[in-house]
Amino acid sequence: MTAYPKTSALMARGAQFFGSEHAILCGAMSWVSERNLVSAISNAGGFGVIACGAMTPELLDKEIAATKTLTTKPFGVNLITMHPQLFDLIEVCGRHQVGHVVLAGGIPPKGSVEAIKTHGAKVICFAPTLALGKKLLRSGADALVIEGMEAGGHIGPVSTSVLAQEILPTLAADHLVFVAGGIGRGEAIAGYLEMGAAGVQLGTRFACATESIAHPAFKQAFFRASARDAIASVQVDDRLPVIPVRALKNKGTQAFTTKQIEVAKLLDDDKVAMMEAQLQIEHYWAGALRRAVIDGDVENGSLMAGQSVGMVTKEEPVAEIMAALMRECEAALDTRKALAVA
Ligand SMILES: Cc1cc2nc3c(=O)[nH]c(=O)nc-3n(C[C@H](O)[C@H](O)[C@H](O)COP(=O)(O)O)c2cc1C
Repeated sequence: MTAYPKTSALMARGAQFFGSEHAILCGAMSWVSERNLVSAISNAGGFGVIACGAMTPELLDKEIAATKTLTTKPFGVNLITMHPQLFDLIEVCGRHQVGHVVLAGGIPPKGSVEAIKTHGAKVICFAPTLALGKKLLRSGADALVIEGMEAGGHIGPVSTSVLAQEILPTLAADHLVFVAGGIGRGEAIAGYLEMGAAGVQLGTRFACATESIAHPAFKQAFFRASARDAIASVQVDDRLPVIPVRALKNKGTQAFTTKQIEVAKLLDDDKVAMMEAQLQIEHYWAGALRRAVIDGDVENGSLMAGQSVGMVTKEEPVAEIMAALMRECEAALDTRKALAVA
């Protein structure tokens, strides 16, 4: 008998899909979502996902093998669609019989969904709009994640609450849709489950768990921050595209704005070619997340964090965070029941 009967009932479809106890995913976070955090999430009843990021197939192979030594529970792998060796990475997942592959970072390239399915794995895709969500499902996606701009990391322009209203009423009855972005407490999970979500995905709330290998300085920055410190990167000039990323403001984010102004000025003065200018902006943050997460450079590194960061106040074991989320969700659903007109 579960301690969270109403929550478990609403999460049943999602939990069955992942083979986990709870339909709570820890979204892949580059450098953070490695063997320790991933196994801790799965061992605590959630679904952990390895962030492949820019890893080579050899490194991913090692990471999956190492994760398997720490948990017997299912976990997934997140692959970035523009990785130059995407199909080799899919092969590695297949060899390890990884049951779920999340494709992030854009529309999956031709043949990638099929290649994952050849190995019998399920495919999860990010749906930025209702139309694209429908298209992804038609192309073979087994489940969708809808992620609002409150989230940490790379973001789209629309909030979680609006995406949920646009997508859940149409797709959630017949398809598995997981909601992400800005979720820090179980009360919010209750709301999305009631709207038809099969489960939820959280990143920021788990990033500083005891089992996370993130540098102590990175964790301290999270504990100190409030929602308004987690800001989306700003594009200064139309000619220099910036893919928005939500991160804690620091010297690095300020310097990025200055850099854009400088490069735009060089363009105005014909002192740099357009391609070179755009590359300078594109490469500005290269290696910056690693600098913050692993090296603890919280001044110049990228402190990717969502707006729920204000609800991350101390280091806690994953199992406690998971239990708190489930408890809060169940209490919220209980309150609804108590209010129901007889
Ligand atoms: C530090 C950090 C790194 C992230 N890296 C990735 C990544 O490599 N791939 C990805 O698909 N999402 C990445 N994300 C997004 C998370 O997987 C997740 O979807 C997001 O954090 C959920 O929103 P929340 O932060 O509001 O909980 C990252 C998020 C954070 C905070």
